[in-house]
Amino acid sequence: MSRSGQGFHYDRLQRGFHWLMAALIVIALGLGIYAAWQVPGTSPRRELLDIHKSLGLTVLLLLPLRFVYRLVAGEPAYRSAPSRSAHLAATLAHLTLYALMVLLPVSGYVYSAAGGYGLPWFGVFSFPRLVPVDKALSQAGYGAHYWIAWGFGILLGLHLLAVAWHAWIRRDEVVGRMWPRRVAGG
Ligand code: HEM
Ligand code: HEM
Repeated sequence: MSRSGQGFHYDRLQRGFHWLMAALIVIALGLGIYAAWQVPGTSPRRELLDIHKSLGLTVLLLLPLRFVYRLVAGEPAYRSAPSRSAHLAATLAHLTLYALMVLLPVSGYVYSAAGGYGLPWFGVFSFPRLVPVDKALSQAGYGAHYWIAWGFGILLGLHLLAVAWHAWIRRDEVVGRMWPRRVAGG
């Protein structure tokens, strides 16, 4: 699914979404892991989790915009096309990343909302509680959040291995597709 207008690079908006959301997610991952080691109810766990939730819910809000724009704009053309199986594997991996980018914040939301905990957005406002306060539901949300976070971490590791493989072993055009135009050339 490629569109002629886009050349060989993801356009500026797609790269903006990719790098902004990658930064938000990596910081959220780090804060989540760090906070999970702290004693509940103590400082700085509480404050770090407030930032964690704000970052995670920002990802959830940005994702539909990114996904719809991706469907409209398509993906850039290749100078030399990858094999069908390599392209299929990349597409499946990317679709799974998109799915986990929804499921991870949603499970965190259910965990916090059903647990009766706060749902802040950087102290500016609070998100509505759309599920009842229910201990069992909150526990299920936590279990899902924990395991989805592991799955996401593993897939992200594979994504970075694929990037390293394209950059240093195959030395092909793939990494340049998500890089600023002036670095990639053309
Ligand atoms: C991109 C989004 C997110 C990522 C990557 C992420 C990742 C993580 C990770 C890796 C942990 C540590 C899990 C553990 O070892 O127990 C964690 C914990 C946590 N997350 Fe998230 N999360 C995200 C979104 C959210 C959202 C939107 C909320 C709530 C609104 C949330 C609430 C929590 C809470 C409360 C914990 C602490 C778990 C505990 O120790 O009790 N997360 N998150
Ligand atoms: C949390 C972090 C990240 C997430 C969730 C993520 C997710 C994604 C997704 C969903 C795509 C597919 C784009 C599309 O077709 O719509 C993609 C493409 C890409 N990502 Fe990431 N990414 C992350 C971090 C990174 C990092 C750190 C790098 C580089 C070091 C990177 C390099 C790339 C490249 C080069 C592509 C283009 C692949 C292609 O043309 O087929 N990503 N990423």
